[in-house]
Amino acid sequence: MAFHHTSDIQAFSKRIWLSSPTMHGDEVKYMMEAYDTNWMSTVGKNLDEIEKQIAQLVGVKYAVALSAGTAALHLAIKLAGEKVYGQARPDEGTLRLRKVLCSDLTFDASINPVAYEDGEAVFIDTEYDTWNMDPAALEKAFALYPEAKIVVLAHLYGTPGKIEELKEICDRHGALIVEDAAESLGAKYLYHGEWKETGSFGDYNCISFNGNNVFETEMRKFDCKESTKMVA
Ligand SMILES: Cc1ncc(COP(=O)(O)O)c(C=O)c1O
Repeated sequence: MAFHHTSDIQAFSKRIWLSSPTMHGDEVKYMMEAYDTNWMSTVGKNLDEIEKQIAQLVGVKYAVALSAGTAALHLAIKLAGEKVYGQARPDEGTLRLRKVLCSDLTFDASINPVAYEDGEAVFIDTEYDTWNMDPAALEKAFALYPEAKIVVLAHLYGTPGKIEELKEICDRHGALIVEDAAESLGAKYLYHGEWKETGSFGDYNCISFNGNNVFETEMRKFDCKESTKMVA
């Protein structure tokens, strides 16, 4: 990736709204179909279809729709924790007293599950080009905390982080990646010469359909995907 630093950025003359829903005509039809067929539920034909389409679009084997991106991140981080540290006792979190290396510039839903699971987030600084996790800072964190085995990294504002460098560092340290692609569905990254979708790089990958993200849905459905195996 090539980056150009420029200082002559001008303010927009017109306001750009953070979130302005666009409806294309079929939304009510699908909602009514779910209602009429008694599938206004967490399962059903429309959900199966969106899971299939999202998995195809992102280039992963499976997609699982959950209630929100926040829930997807919690599930992903819990599963990563179980994979590395085993199942927790019912009265303790999966990450109990473990350090998890996390993006420091992100929405708090990326990080909260580390606390829910009794872990300790170590914040990794952001770099200039992408405003995402700095590979040099991640490398330094592994030098300080070689025991860390999970990295939560976000791609903010539709801009992928430097995933090639970040993934190489995680692989070298034997750490799993939870990729928070909530804000970057549809953003691709040139990875070893091949354009790949964000949301396909992690061991566990999450996207969001919240109204303030790239795509939204009427029910604010959210998907959590795993690159190689089924999530749940
Ligand atoms: C980077 C990031 N992660 C996670 C989330 C959580 O997604 P949700 O609002 O669907 O729970 C958001 C929400 O906008 C987000 O921007």
